Amino acid sequence: MSSINLNNVSKWYGNNHVIKDANLDIDDGEFIVLVGPSGCGKSTLLRIISGLEDLDNGKIFINSIDVTDKIPSERGLSMVFQSYALYPHMNVSENIGFSLKTSGENKEMLKNKIDNVAEILKLDKLLHRLPKELSGGQRQRVAIGRAIIRQPKAFLFDEPLSNLDASLRVEMRLEISRLHKQLGITTIYVTHDQVEAMTLADKIVVINEGEIIQVGTPQELYNYPKNLFVAEFIGTPKMNTMKCYVKKNVIHIVGNIEIKTSIKTHHKNTKYFGFRADRVKMCEKQKGSLTGYIKFVEYLGSEQYIYVDCGINESLIVLKEEPDYKIPSLKKEIGLKILAKDLYLFDKNGNVLN
Ligand SMILES: Nc1ncnc2c1ncn2[C@@H]1O[C@H](COP(=O)(O)OP(=O)(O)O)[C@@H](O)[C@H]1O
Ligand SMILES: [Mg+2]
Repeated sequence: MSSINLNNVSKWYGNNHVIKDANLDIDDGEFIVLVGPSGCGKSTLLRIISGLEDLDNGKIFINSIDVTDKIPSERGLSMVFQSYALYPHMNVSENIGFSLKTSGENKEMLKNKIDNVAEILKLDKLLHRLPKELSGGQRQRVAIGRAIIRQPKAFLFDEPLSNLDASLRVEMRLEISRLHKQLGITTIYVTHDQVEAMTLADKIVVINEGEIIQVGTPQELYNYPKNLFVAEFIGTPKMNTMKCYVKKNVIHIVGNIEIKTSIKTHHKNTKYFGFRADRVKMCEKQKGSLTGYIKFVEYLGSEQYIYVDCGINESLIVLKEEPDYKIPSLKKEIGLKILAKDLYLFDKNGNVLN
């Protein structure tokens, strides 16, 4: 059990500044998710924390002890990768016990520990199987078992579920969540999947181009995104955003056509605005409302996503409706109603204004 602190951590690959002055405080027992687009530096940051990668600047503390110059084995963290990296010629039991066996654990203790881990991970009936005789989810569980048995100060996961199919991914996600509740071990979990981030995290760390953009609970990030990047990254479906300017306190949408809306704001330097799919409603076409045509509908069982072309560049506006909502004819021009209170306003740099 451990706290982890990053202090002005920076890393370059040649001229590429891949981690930019990262500061992060992780409390004992917290489940932290690092999320961001591919190539933003998530794996690099995780590898720096584990000690597999050197940093060029800054410090790392585990339980307030400076471990910046310590090798991975001295940091006492366990890492689980996307590729399970199991030993193919060893069975489940041997794979789980390998690290303890090589460090000289006595036979009986080792067996007890393996049995205990196998029970936690529901692998007890599979101990004699080889990795090739296991499903993807079972293999991932063995990889996790191997990490647990060393009783690490913290778990580091790097996209552990991205090789699994969708339904297994959901199952393993719940499993990892359950495991964290049961063991209470500090966890840093990397994913590019914002749904995984939202469902697992105590705290989400949004990274873009090597920079920590925002840290907060899933609720904080969803309701109070700090900028356009977080607003668009967090939430499904993606937030509707568009370019605009304000003239006489009224928002004008900019695009291949210009639309004067009826929405007022006192933020004169608004350059973008956004609204979530569940905050826009269809209405009769009227002056000052956005108008457009329904292009297509995604029926998801519990809800439906309706995509509307308002003639603003190529982007479609997405609405979220109840599953039994009656879709109007695709031939009929419809209006869209958004309330000023549901708008997120951003300045020219994409920073939130309201
Ligand atoms: N060993 C390496 N040598 C040079 N550049 C690297 C190396 N590893 C990663 N990078 C670069 O660092 C950046 C961050 O990579 P990475 O941390 O793997 O991103 P993520 O895990 O978020 O997809 C990328 O631009 C990537 O190309
Ligand atoms: Mg990665």
